[in-house]
Amino acid sequence: MSISSDARLSAPSALRNRDPILDVLAAVLPPAGLVLEIASGSGEHVTHFARHLPHLAFQPSDPAAEARASVAAHVAAEGLANVRAPLALDAAVADWPVGPAAAIVCINMIHISPWPSTLGLMAGAGARLPVGGPLVLYGPYLRDGVETAPGNRAFDESLRRRDPAWGLRRLKDVAAAAEKHGLALERVVEMPANNLTVVFRKSA
Ligand SMILES: C[S@@+](CC[C@H](N)C(=O)[O-])C[C@H]1O[C@@H](n2cnc3c(N)ncnc32)[C@H](O)[C@@H]1O
Repeated sequence: MSISSDARLSAPSALRNRDPILDVLAAVLPPAGLVLEIASGSGEHVTHFARHLPHLAFQPSDPAAEARASVAAHVAAEGLANVRAPLALDAAVADWPVGPAAAIVCINMIHISPWPSTLGLMAGAGARLPVGGPLVLYGPYLRDGVETAPGNRAFDESLRRRDPAWGLRRLKDVAAAAEKHGLALERVVEMPANNLTVVFRKSA
């Protein structure tokens, strides 16, 4: 991430992947309501989505104060009225400081945090989404029967060197964790650079 003269951080990957992710979101998000983003990072995703989906309200969040300051600075710089102030939210900690959400989006957190963050994400999403509400994930995953791209293997090794609790997850394990909280795997969309967008829906 690079740093601008104010609190705004910039992640080159976010600028590359935000349009392909937006295309999927436009197809799967509900027509109205609050979209909760977990692990907002720089805030370049939520501001982009809010600008292009003005009929929705967005609630960014991140446990890192630096990220929250960046999100708020990006929102202020763009003058977006449909983005709420970022919340301090650690997916791994129960009792998220937010109520129900029509949809939940989480980009590039699952492999860059310990596994309990994913378990907390599923519990929190399962408790907050209405029946039919989507949980949308984006990132690289390991898939049974699909050869892992060399770039993703190297990325996995570099993540584990940084923190042994990090690393690419098996999509099957993520889907099993989701299922325990009533979140059924609906679709897997192949994205550029060997990433996936994974859509779950809260079942009855
Ligand atoms: C690689 S960054 C991704 C940021 C942004 N979503 C993006 O794709 O540019 C990972 C983010 O996950 C956040 N994070 C790590 N552990 C978390 C947790 N347990 N709950 C919520 N966010 C977490 C970090 O603070 C960081 O902002």
